[in-house]
Amino acid sequence: MKYNMKKLVIAISVAAFLSACCNEEKVPVYRQADRPVCDRVEDLLDRMTFEEKVLQLNQYIIGLNTNVNNIGEEIKDVPGGIGSVIYFSDNVELRNELQRKAMEETRLGIPVLFGFDVIHGFRTVYPIPLAQGCSWNPELVTELCSVAAREARLSGTDWTFAPMIDVSRDGRWGRVAECFGEDPYANSVMGVASVNGYQGDDLYNTDKVAACLKHFVGYGMSQGGRDYTATDISMQSMWDTYLPPYKACIEAGAETVMSAFNDINGVPATANHLFLTEILKEKWGHKGFVVSDWNAVEQLIPQGYAADRKEAALKAFTAGVEMDMKDNCYREYFEELLNEGKITERQVDEAVARILSLKFRLGLFEKPYTEPLPESERILTADAYAAAERLAEESMVLLKNDGILPLGNPGRIAVIGPMAKDKFNIVGSWRCHGNAKDAQSIYEGLEAEFGSPALNYAPGCDFDGTDRSGFALAKAAALKSDVIVLCLGEKSAWSGENASRSTLALPSIQEELAAELASTGKPMVLVLSNGRPLELNRLAPMADAVLEAWQPGMKGGSPVAGILSGRVNPSGKLCITFPWSTGQVPIFYNSRQSSRPDQGQYQEIPSGPMYEFGHGLSYSEFVYSDLKADSEDITKGRDFKVQVSVTNSSDRDGYETVLWYVTDPFCSVTRPVKELRHFEKKFIKAGATEIFTFDVNPEKDLAYVDSEGNPLLESGEYRISVNEQTLKFNLK
Ligand code: NOJ
Repeated sequence: MKYNMKKLVIAISVAAFLSACCNEEKVPVYRQADRPVCDRVEDLLDRMTFEEKVLQLNQYIIGLNTNVNNIGEEIKDVPGGIGSVIYFSDNVELRNELQRKAMEETRLGIPVLFGFDVIHGFRTVYPIPLAQGCSWNPELVTELCSVAAREARLSGTDWTFAPMIDVSRDGRWGRVAECFGEDPYANSVMGVASVNGYQGDDLYNTDKVAACLKHFVGYGMSQGGRDYTATDISMQSMWDTYLPPYKACIEAGAETVMSAFNDINGVPATANHLFLTEILKEKWGHKGFVVSDWNAVEQLIPQGYAADRKEAALKAFTAGVEMDMKDNCYREYFEELLNEGKITERQVDEAVARILSLKFRLGLFEKPYTEPLPESERILTADAYAAAERLAEESMVLLKNDGILPLGNPGRIAVIGPMAKDKFNIVGSWRCHGNAKDAQSIYEGLEAEFGSPALNYAPGCDFDGTDRSGFALAKAAALKSDVIVLCLGEKSAWSGENASRSTLALPSIQEELAAELASTGKPMVLVLSNGRPLELNRLAPMADAVLEAWQPGMKGGSPVAGILSGRVNPSGKLCITFPWSTGQVPIFYNSRQSSRPDQGQYQEIPSGPMYEFGHGLSYSEFVYSDLKADSEDITKGRDFKVQVSVTNSSDRDGYETVLWYVTDPFCSVTRPVKELRHFEKKFIKAGATEIFTFDVNPEKDLAYVDSEGNPLLESGEYRISVNEQTLKFNLK
């Protein structure tokens, strides 16, 4: 009895001691903001059940029903412990209500991550990425992405599914609008610029969002330009063309990656261990997570790679997809897969850790809710509009000018075409929460620039169809005017996902309208708004000038009008080739060399492009001279400089972009005819000369990658060219 008493006293003292210690640690480690993220993740994982962990690996959707009265309905079926949702709404209350469910009604209070497609702006929509690529102004792209990030984060979105850096050379593919064109280097630079804008230096800031690189990988090569089709891409092309933008953006710190819909050489991208794990995570050291594309896990079944949803879940997860977007396969089958020994809890822990880590770094545990701010402080600010306008000005490309532009004081202007007063299509696809009522039409821009009494408007026709009944009025408007501004283009729904076209030509009704107007003999400026390169071999000859305005977002009218009047000097250059005819597709500047460069031509059409990569006119005249290197002795391991002088020989100040190309004429792996390796845009005052420099690091700028991803540099002849000038040298 005595002995037992003693035992009891000891037991009570131990319990008292333990309880004192625990009181000091009342706040669990994962809730302590000053603890390192890895400790917080580890602590939280230790506390989670398997079911809680699996929920973190799933993404649901909410916000499609935008009626505020339906908030309860919207969140009723979403478990509070869900990892992420695609947030279709910009309603802060709906977000906060779901977040409250996560924070207060679940055991551990893990915040939900809200993601959405903020592709070229949130509410202040700016030019589509393909247009951004033509601006050659990565700083401006960073600025606009940070505007988008701010609007998004303040409206309840923490994570954007952007940038899309799929190199694409097929304009038929609707998603070409979402990338930065046909060149890997341009996609790398603009991709990094976007990541920097979205994420900034510190995600913990409340006005930044996590970026998501997509679609990993090779999606831009979809066969026939048709969405979702399989791709066959050699490993050589993977390494030198499709992977570099991803590598650059991973090095820039992109937080997440989305797996693509396409099959790559027999293994769907969403179940591709080689790309998702061996290259992305093991070789490049990506520490973030991979989310599947929409239903891409389940789609392994129609792709012929999984027999059922369970096998699809297993194959996607073990290949390296941590989060299952939308189709619920992970949630449904992971318990079974664990019990069958097909996946381990450790694998699940590793995946969950990647997701939790982002949530900690975004500060979601400390600030799970979004503060409701008035719209005026959150979106569509004057600064945001101004930045969108600048980017639109710089991304528009003057394709042709027989001297009619700038118009100066043109007299009366006939403003014709289905795009003239359009405020919807001009915004472009993937407009996020952009609203046509906030957009400016080309007509409005012209009105502000030239005054409404100067304008005679007639739509002429619709974007497609066969109705020619508006032609007569359009012709009459042209006849009583001094110049015609014909605004043609594509509907926004003709670009983006699942929006391929079999031809790059505009529908024939638009070409017929142009012909009708051309028959008046009045000078004609063609303004185009579209999401892909176009086939212009019939339209361009009818016009005295052609301005490619792309889909400029909210602020397209003033930039178009400014370029037409001469207030704005155009500076955009194409980041994608405009073929002479759709039959030339795929056509791009950096193809590998032909065995017979002078032969293999088309018999009935020109073989070259209509407007080549890098083409774009200015009102200034730039003369390139004095291309030289700072050393005659060029050797491996030593950087050297190449420079060129560019003189603005006109009386107009203007921006010029110098595109630097490298050619390696003979190599153990054949190289493209030329490859863009550097570019720079500078303002050059009338009559002034600016020096443009390319700091060449041979190991980075002259090297190539072999089919296993090894960078190699061979001695021998190289050429560096700008504009029409070329410098030859021997690398020792
Ligand atoms: C499918 C698209 O392919 C992808 O780009 C997008 O991010 C997701 N849907 C989510 O909307």
